[in-house]
Formats: sequence, C-alpha cells, structure tokens
Amino acid sequence: MKKKHIYLIGFMGSGKSTVGKMLAEQIELPFMDTDQLIEDKTNKTVENIFQEDGEEAFRILETDLLVEIENKDRAVIAVGGGLPCYKNNIKALRDSGLVIYLNSSLLTLIKRLRLDKGSRPLIKSVLDEELPRKIEAMLSDRVVFYKMADVFVPNEGNNPQKAIDDIKRELTKREWI
Ligand code: S3P
Repeated sequence: MKKKHIYLIGFMGSGKSTVGKMLAEQIELPFMDTDQLIEDKTNKTVENIFQEDGEEAFRILETDLLVEIENKDRAVIAVGGGLPCYKNNIKALRDSGLVIYLNSSLLTLIKRLRLDKGSRPLIKSVLDEELPRKIEAMLSDRVVFYKMADVFVPNEGNNPQKAIDDIKRELTKREWI
C-alpha cells in the first residue's frame, strides 16, 4: 500500500477536527473525519451507535472503515481518538499514510473536555470532579499507541495555526507538499 493520506490522531479534545479542516483547506486536499464517515454510513450518530450497539460494534465499524479509506484519494483525515488503539489499526494507518499525533497536555485536554463532554459517549456521564482522573487513565492506556505516529505536533492553548504550520513544515520536509 502506497502511503498517501495525512492522518491526525490524538486524544479527544486534542483539536484533530479543527486543525484537520484548516490544514486541508490550506494545502487544498479534501478533509474527512472517521466519526463523520461512520455516521454517514450507518445513518446513526456515534452516540447512538455506542448506546444501541455498544462500543465493540463501534470499534468494528472503525476497523472496517480503514480498508475503505485506504482506497480513497489523498485526504487529510481526523481519526477518532480510540481508533489507533484497537486491533492493529495503528499499523494500517502507518502503512497507508503519514500519521501525525496531535499532542495536548493532560491539563489542556481536561480544560477542553470539561466544556465539551456532552456528545462524547465515553465521558458524557463522568462527573466533572472525576473527569481529570478518567482522562488521565484513558490517556495513559492510549499514549503508547499515539506514540507510534510518524510525527508529534503539540497543540496547546487556542492557536491551531501554529500546529498547522508545524505540520506543513514536516510535509514540506518530506516532500509531501
Ligand atoms: C472516541 C473518540 C471520539 C469518537 C468516539 C470514541 C474515543 O472521536 O470516535 O466517541 O474512544 O476516544 P474524537 O476523538 O474525534 O472525539
């Protein structure tokens, strides 16, 4: 499989969708989001899939989706936070594209997710006071997979353009753009 896509991976709230959309526009590639692709395909929201079919069913949809994505034209793809951490998905990502880990500190993630947990099935019913511990535990399980990315890009504060500039620099260096 020829490497072609630009994948953004990272924990929920790391800014994959924001950075991905802006990056795609600036380098003139289509943008895709694995959650959105699953919602389009199943005609259900991610929240409903978790609720009605369970997390395992969602993880199967994610893995199946990777095969379909590999056959699409080059795109910038925001990848659901859990996707790289199941099955052998991180390998499939690495084999078919450049994998960029959008990396935010625990404190930044807690701050962002506290404001925006309502539509996220894995944390929506976690009490605010339990949220830091929950995020820390999930992150510590997942970071080993995120660290298998090709490139690490920090995304702190509220300056997505800085992360985008870092990514563009990497893409130029690797002659991807
Ligand atoms: C998940 C992250 C979500 C979505 C689902 C599960 C996870 O995507 O795929 O709620 O396991 O971390 P985002 O990372 O885009 O929020």
